Amino acid sequence: MKILGIETSCDETAAAVVATTGDAAKPWAVRSNIIASQTAIHREWGGVVPELASRQHLRDICGVVDRALEAAECGWSDIDALAVTQGPGLVGALLVGVSYAKAAALSLAKPIVPVHHLAGHIESIWLEHGPIPLPAVVLVVSGGHTSLYEVPALGVYRLVGRTRDDAAGEAFDKVARLLGLGYPGGPVVDRRAKLGNDQAVALPRPRFTGPSRSKPHLEGMTEFSFSGLKSAAVRLLQQRQDAGPMTDEEVNDFCASFQRIVVETLVDRTFAAAAALGARSVGIAGGVSANSRLRADALTRGVAEGLPVFVPPLSLSTDNAAMIAAAGLRRLEGGAKSALNFNADPALPMP
Ligand code: KG4
Ligand code: ZN
Repeated sequence: MKILGIETSCDETAAAVVATTGDAAKPWAVRSNIIASQTAIHREWGGVVPELASRQHLRDICGVVDRALEAAECGWSDIDALAVTQGPGLVGALLVGVSYAKAAALSLAKPIVPVHHLAGHIESIWLEHGPIPLPAVVLVVSGGHTSLYEVPALGVYRLVGRTRDDAAGEAFDKVARLLGLGYPGGPVVDRRAKLGNDQAVALPRPRFTGPSRSKPHLEGMTEFSFSGLKSAAVRLLQQRQDAGPMTDEEVNDFCASFQRIVVETLVDRTFAAAAALGARSVGIAGGVSANSRLRADALTRGVAEGLPVFVPPLSLSTDNAAMIAAAGLRRLEGGAKSALNFNADPALPMP
């Protein structure tokens, strides 16, 4: 079976073809994964401008789907089903993908399933690695979300904690903007951090009053908060910049110190949740999972704690449509019925 995935929730217009393989060790294979990024358009404004995003999706969607079919060496008649991101995201942006996918499904008489964007990020792990030991704890960490899910069975996503305020990616983007490093901030902070001293700048670690690890109740233990760290970083930077421009070395040190605190918080909370839930594996997905230190630290911690850690490759970490196709396949395998009576939902709850 071949499924066409379509993703337009934010600032990437994406289409991909994913096929079932019949191989239990690796049941799904990416046949094509095309992304038209709008980064250059939004960079000028320092962040995503919703109206510009929807207009650009309109311009790009037909060409992106054509290229996805071409790269997969198939035509419309080879596609057995469609999957599209229903939400959450920017409503105008989502509407472009949803309208396109519904029109295509209707005219071709193909089944279509709506997909939750975060289910897509979670399934990117299964798309890359095949079956991983269950129950798993998966951290979804992106520009809009920082959430921990327990996956007790295939296709079941149980929220066990999330950020009380900002998402981790949002904090990366804000700090990068203040440092004059451009948008999106995560990749450039990651690069500059490699050149800096991660102990050079004293930034506060997010603190929570919650149950201790010896009495593992989940409440308070799996939540995140990045607004305090973000405000402290903003204050420090403003004070420093009042005294004149920062040197490259200072910028590198700031990136390294900030990244260390964010990554330590993410890794600590994820492994605390895994221990409390008796997880047999840990997954990390979403745009921030592209962060080199997060990947390295999580893998090291996994080895120390005897828990296998799974991360998608970089091509499946940031927004893409192959993960949406995978989540669509998961829903179809779970018996989901095709429907056309759904609409884009910017605040779609996780099923
Ligand atoms: O998943 P994604 O592409 O879109 C959302 O669903 O939000 O995530 C985008 C976020 C941005 O905040 C970006 O700065 C961050 O992922 N990001 C990174 C890295 N690459 C992307 N953050 C830290 N390190 C990276 N290497
Ligand atoms: Zn995303």
